[in-house]
Amino acid sequence: MTSAVTIPRHGGTGESTAVAARARQVVKAYGTGETRVVALDSVDVDIARGRFTAIMGPSGSGKSTLMHCLAGLDTVTSGEIFLDDTEITGLKDKKLTQLRRDRIGFIFQAFNLLPTLNALENITLPMDIAGRKPDADWLRRVVDTVGLSERLKHRPNQLSGGQQQRVAVARALAARPEIIFGDEPTGNLDSRAGAEVLGFLRQSVDELGQTIVMVTHDPVAASYADRVLYLADGRIVDEMERPTAEAVLDRMKDFDARGRTS
Ligand SMILES: Nc1ncnc2c1ncn2[C@@H]1O[C@H](COP(=O)(O)OP(=O)(O)O)[C@@H](O)[C@H]1O
Ligand SMILES: [Mg+2]
Repeated sequence: MTSAVTIPRHGGTGESTAVAARARQVVKAYGTGETRVVALDSVDVDIARGRFTAIMGPSGSGKSTLMHCLAGLDTVTSGEIFLDDTEITGLKDKKLTQLRRDRIGFIFQAFNLLPTLNALENITLPMDIAGRKPDADWLRRVVDTVGLSERLKHRPNQLSGGQQQRVAVARALAARPEIIFGDEPTGNLDSRAGAEVLGFLRQSVDELGQTIVMVTHDPVAASYADRVLYLADGRIVDEMERPTAEAVLDRMKDFDARGRTS
């Protein structure tokens, strides 16, 4: 078994750095003049380390923009983003690319697996490209946790959608990033496969100490998280700890009702 495996570098509940990422007064505007859209309107947020955070809100509320800014995939108009102690706003392109590669993991709605590589090769590809050697114990633990041990030689087209997305999750985890971002990671999956992937994300937080931020519009998906942040018109308007699907759904109905009357 894998009992001797160490806790991830950035995992756990390290007292001194309980916040994995934070946004301070972040504004993101697209376009100018008449066509100017404020996608993020002075957002302040702390993302707790070793926890699973969901970001919810109506379509167009700024969920993807917030995730992209936190992950250094998009620049901000003003304000600051920190990954641990590193201010990523203001980093030059090359440093930012390095930071994304070395410290951040991504899971997208489309699994983005290479069809000619088997599952294991897909999982280790980013590290192969970066010239880093995967930690064998860690890799085994990730693969065990995702339940892929028997499927490592399979190519993506020999795997179900849920299994392919678990490969994508394992790929994100393999490099032991400080934080993993997912934009609707179960958006392309049926509910059974979605539950499988969400269960694994939950497990990677509980057992591997991973920090995860997931954008979703699905109350059931959000209920796997420790905390839900609600966005509306580019602002964080509410949050919920230890969400249940029912409570999230109720809160969404609340927002809809308010939206209709305002
Ligand atoms: N590249 C872009 N150019 C112009 N407007 C954009 C762009 N990306 C997003 N927006 C606008 O910013 C707002 C927030 O978008 P987004 O973050 O994608 O919302 P969500 O993910 O919650 O659906 C929307 O009004 C959207 O139309
Ligand atoms: Mg979006």
